[in-house]
Amino acid sequence: MRIDKFISESGIASRKEASAAAKRGGVIVNGRVVKDLSEHIDPEKAEVSYLGEIIEYQKYVYILLNKPEGYVSATEDTALPVVTELLPERLRKRELFPVGRLDRDTVGVMLLTNNGPLAHRLLAPKRHVEKRYYFKCAEPLAPFAEDAFKNGVTLADGYECKSAEIIPDPDRLGGVIVLTEGKYHQIKRMIAALDNRVTYLERITFACLPIAPLPKRGEWRYLTEEEAEYIEALG
Ligand code: URA
Repeated sequence: MRIDKFISESGIASRKEASAAAKRGGVIVNGRVVKDLSEHIDPEKAEVSYLGEIIEYQKYVYILLNKPEGYVSATEDTALPVVTELLPERLRKRELFPVGRLDRDTVGVMLLTNNGPLAHRLLAPKRHVEKRYYFKCAEPLAPFAEDAFKNGVTLADGYECKSAEIIPDPDRLGGVIVLTEGKYHQIKRMIAALDNRVTYLERITFACLPIAPLPKRGEWRYLTEEEAEYIEALG
């Protein structure tokens, strides 16, 4: 990896700033002053110091976003805003992508990472990663909703959902749903199969996340060390 890329991805300085600092002798790689930042290093082995500060290289980045309404769970879209636009420039350079999808109007917990193999494993159907949602619906839930979810709701296209849990609010106009799979529009279609309609949907947990407090809607934070360890262990 080029040294200027390494420095700018760490967020400590832009490539331009790094290049200016390097000319003044501010970049030291493995004890040697480096003036030409187009040189390549092994990011996992090199010790890079920028203006006296050692840069810790993070191969994988884990971000917890509280997704707001109106954003597409993707890294690009021709017409609509995408979740990665909510991240600062230095993180966008790290090629993060959302782990799994939430609909444009769904809000809440979303994990973004550049750890492709882990994302793949977390989304694998046999992994059974648990996701918890809070929802509101247009009509009170049918009295048989709990049993229907437990036995596996059959969607309009004939797909039989795995056994899931629904914990209705006392007025039955919403509640919590716990799923271990993630089909397209799954909750909306499950509620539709009960002749009802979702009016609000928020993911409140994804696997073990969050352990530390969730950022405000539209905001993000890095996973804590504990959260990153848990999520890596799950994959
Ligand atoms: N189920 C849905 O219907 N939509 C989501 O965004 C997530 C789960």
